[in-house]
Amino acid sequence: MEFEREYRQAADLVEGTLKGCFLENVPQRELLDAMRYSLLAGGKRIRPVLVLKFCQALCGSMEPALDYACGVEMLHTYSLIHDDLPCMDDDDLRRGKPTCHKVYGECNAVLAGDALQAEAFRRIAASQRSAGPAANGWACAILGQAAGALTGICAGQYLDMSGEGKAMDEGQLTQIHLWKTAALLQAACLLGLIASPVEPTQVQLEAAKTYAREVGIAFQIRDDMLDQESTTQALGKPVGSDAVNGKHTFVTLYGLEKCRQLVEEHTRLARQAVSSAFDNAEFLCRLADWLAGRSY
Ligand code: IPE
Ligand code: IPE
Ligand code: MG
Ligand code: MG
Ligand code: MG
Repeated sequence: MEFEREYRQAADLVEGTLKGCFLENVPQRELLDAMRYSLLAGGKRIRPVLVLKFCQALCGSMEPALDYACGVEMLHTYSLIHDDLPCMDDDDLRRGKPTCHKVYGECNAVLAGDALQAEAFRRIAASQRSAGPAANGWACAILGQAAGALTGICAGQYLDMSGEGKAMDEGQLTQIHLWKTAALLQAACLLGLIASPVEPTQVQLEAAKTYAREVGIAFQIRDDMLDQESTTQALGKPVGSDAVNGKHTFVTLYGLEKCRQLVEEHTRLARQAVSSAFDNAEFLCRLADWLAGRSY
């Protein structure tokens, strides 16, 4: 199957499942609406596609990983809602729509993020499609680390925010990228392997980690480039936000041309990592290439 169709098929599987979430008729209906508003606003679904495709690379089926995939996308959406808040990047547009706090207010946006994160863990812990309860526990531990304050999103976001207006070297920027962006991509890849009824080898687990680390660094460098060279309409989020907030990025450090080379090099390392460890790594290689050249 060609790459685009294969990607769409996996993304549609997640999309269909997410559409059925948070429909209960309860007094806090507005909170659930705020969660659905951001969750279903039309993200690229990269992380859940990674979950599903790593599972498929191992066992031939995406189905065992569907709950993990939805959980990872919920956690990602929470991180975006909070990232856009006035106390953080203070952005008004996300996924082509006004941000959650612009529509539902700050209080509801904070709670919608909190609740999406909670539901992510609940869904993974309770999954009956995956390899079983031990796999679910392992998956929750990995996701907790990727979301957390030691080596996860909160750690990266802390350094990103406290670094505003300060010069940073390549090592410091890489650290931020690894924690705020690569950590969740890494969890996505690992969760796909953990969900599979066919157990991953140590070599495959390490290959998935390397792939995600390299894709993750490339992904955030590309994100920083797009903040400078794309348009708000194409991106669905405000361009120039980094400059307004005084963020130091790979673009301010090295300029766009060197960034292009870095993205290519990290993408090459990502492809190399999975090529030897999985029988069919074609899709994962194509995905890394597509992300490197993405325009939104
Ligand atoms: C945006 O992630 C946040 C970053 C880590 C740069 P995506 O570019 O995957 O956002 P969506 O999910 O497609 O909206
Ligand atoms: C944030 O990075 C990554 C998250 C953990 C949400 P950015 O602040 O650069 O993401 P965008 O550009 O707002 O999507
Ligand atoms: Mg940010
Ligand atoms: Mg932001
Ligand atoms: Mg950005």
